[in-house]
Amino acid sequence: MTSEHPNAWAAAAIRRLRAEGRAHGPTPLRPLPLPALRDIEVYLKDESAHPAGSVKHRLVRAMFCRAIASGRITADTTVVAATGGAVAVAGAHFARLLDLSFRAVVPAKTPADTLVRIEREGGRWQPAEQPPAAVQQEARALAERLGGHFLDHFTDAGPALAEYGEPTIADEIFEQLRAEPHPVPAWIVTGAGTGATSASIGRHLRHHGHPTRLAVVDPENSAYFPAWASDCRDYATGMPSRIPGIGRPRTEPGFLPSVIDLVIPVPDGASIAALRWLHDTAGVPAGPAAGTGLWGVCHLVSRMRAAGARGSVVSLVGDHAEPYRNTHLDPEWVRTRGLDPGPYADAVERFATTGEWDAG
Ligand SMILES: Cc1ncc(COP(=O)(O)O)c(C=O)c1O
Repeated sequence: MTSEHPNAWAAAAIRRLRAEGRAHGPTPLRPLPLPALRDIEVYLKDESAHPAGSVKHRLVRAMFCRAIASGRITADTTVVAATGGAVAVAGAHFARLLDLSFRAVVPAKTPADTLVRIEREGGRWQPAEQPPAAVQQEARALAERLGGHFLDHFTDAGPALAEYGEPTIADEIFEQLRAEPHPVPAWIVTGAGTGATSASIGRHLRHHGHPTRLAVVDPENSAYFPAWASDCRDYATGMPSRIPGIGRPRTEPGFLPSVIDLVIPVPDGASIAALRWLHDTAGVPAGPAAGTGLWGVCHLVSRMRAAGARGSVVSLVGDHAEPYRNTHLDPEWVRTRGLDPGPYADAVERFATTGEWDAG
């Protein structure tokens, strides 16, 4: 028997959040056509199909549920986030669903396209007055002033996802692969921002005893690859990632190295080259992190081929291309940021057409 929350508003709000999850159902799992790879299938789990357009939709829904269940969000709470990214868009989405006010404190250089998306979901934003490192403190202070709730995704996303229960992203992947030639994937590939998604998938694999291994792809400047490789939990680079959503300057509390089999460092130029291939050749309108994932897939598939293995590989599309038309998808923007996809483009093309991989 499930027991409902004693507060009527909270009970109704939690029912509403869970109904929203059920109504949209699982995000699509689509095969990526790579005919040169006989006996190895690659699939993309398209998290951009969530109503708020990214993998953060799941995380933020779970965080709202947890905060409501514990009484930290009530009927008249203003919810505050410290980002101009996908968490803010999803936060505004769920706040509107529950008739709550939402405010995002955004870093000064947040692209206008993202701010428009927060507004479209009914949220309000304000630029941080302090440098980027202080955005969290400012948002926390704003939440305190308003008597609101600070949506602390770096701390809360992991525990919230774990408490939310089924269906997790991994439940969906295994269900969707059931009728496919290799229903238990050899690898699942994801990036890590808060670390919550990789932790959720990794825990699922361990708890169900699946032989599937989990790879995290990690962009330049991120602390996760060195942290994982050196088993150092407080590794920090102090440098921001240039691939939105993934890679962090420090090892966040939600990153769970014990359930990760491999972390693959990916040059940013390679992420852009793979992103362009996804767009131009495969027709997949994904965000930059999906390019990082595809580079990791090439690496893993080449290892499988070398070992004569068959099987399937699943990689995450964490968000949609739309917000990046004037940034990562614009060759001029890429060039002025000193990113050079040139040396990597041939490797991706050759892999896609022949299955051969000579990029390490
Ligand atoms: C765009 C994007 N954002 C975020 C993530 C992961 O987020 P988190 O580690 O916070 O769960 C991914 C994972 O691949 C991603 O592709």
